[in-house]
Amino acid sequence: MSQTHRVLLSEDDILEKIEGIATQICEDYRGQEVILVGILKGAFVFLSDLAREIEHQSQDGKGVSACFVEFMSISSYGDSRKPGDIRIELDVRQSVRGQNVIIVEDVADSLETLYRVRQILSEKGAAEIRVAVLLEKPEGHKRSDVSLDYVCFRIENAGFVYGYGMDVAEKSRALPFVAVADPE
Ligand code: IMP
Ligand code: MG
Repeated sequence: MSQTHRVLLSEDDILEKIEGIATQICEDYRGQEVILVGILKGAFVFLSDLAREIEHQSQDGKGVSACFVEFMSISSYGDSRKPGDIRIELDVRQSVRGQNVIIVEDVADSLETLYRVRQILSEKGAAEIRVAVLLEKPEGHKRSDVSLDYVCFRIENAGFVYGYGMDVAEKSRALPFVAVADPE
C-alpha cells in the first residue's frame, strides 16, 4: 500500500519562495562570489534547488560572479544541559577566509545549531556570514543573537515536518514537498 502524506508546502510553493530568496541573494551579492554552506543531511534538497536558482539568475551577468557549494555535518553531544555543544562530523573543504558565506539550513528551531555553525565559520575568517532557511519555527527560538536573513516559510505550531530533505527516522527525505506528521 502506498503511503499518504499530509502536504504542508507543495513543490510549487517551495520553488516560488526559493526563486524569491535567490533574487534577493543575487541583488545583495551582485558581482561577488558567495559560498553556500549546506548543513547535512536536512538541507541537501533545499541547497540544490537554491544553488541552481542562483546560477540560473546569474547567467546574464546580473547576479553573483560565482556560487560555490560546501557542506558541513554536525551532531550534538546529546547533553540537554548544553544544547549548543556540537561535534563537527564533516567540515567545509574550501577556505572561507575573506569570503561571503551563506549558511543553508532546513529548519531554524532553537537556533542553537545555526549559532554554533556561524561561530565556527566566523573563527575560520569568513568576511560575511548570512543565513538562509527553508523553515523558521519562531516559537522554538531560544536565542536572540542569530539573524535569519533569507527565510522561505515561517510556520507556527505545525509540529514535526518532513520531506524535501527532512526525514522521519531517515525515511522520506526525497519527497519533493514538505509534509506534516499527524499529531499523536
Ligand atoms: P535547532 O535550531 O538547533 O533547534 O535545530 C534545528 C534542527 O532540528 C534542524 O536542522 C532540523 O534538523 C531539526 N528539526 C527541527 N524541527 C524539525 C522538523 O519539524 N522536522 C525535521 N527536522 C527538524
Ligand atoms: Mg538540520
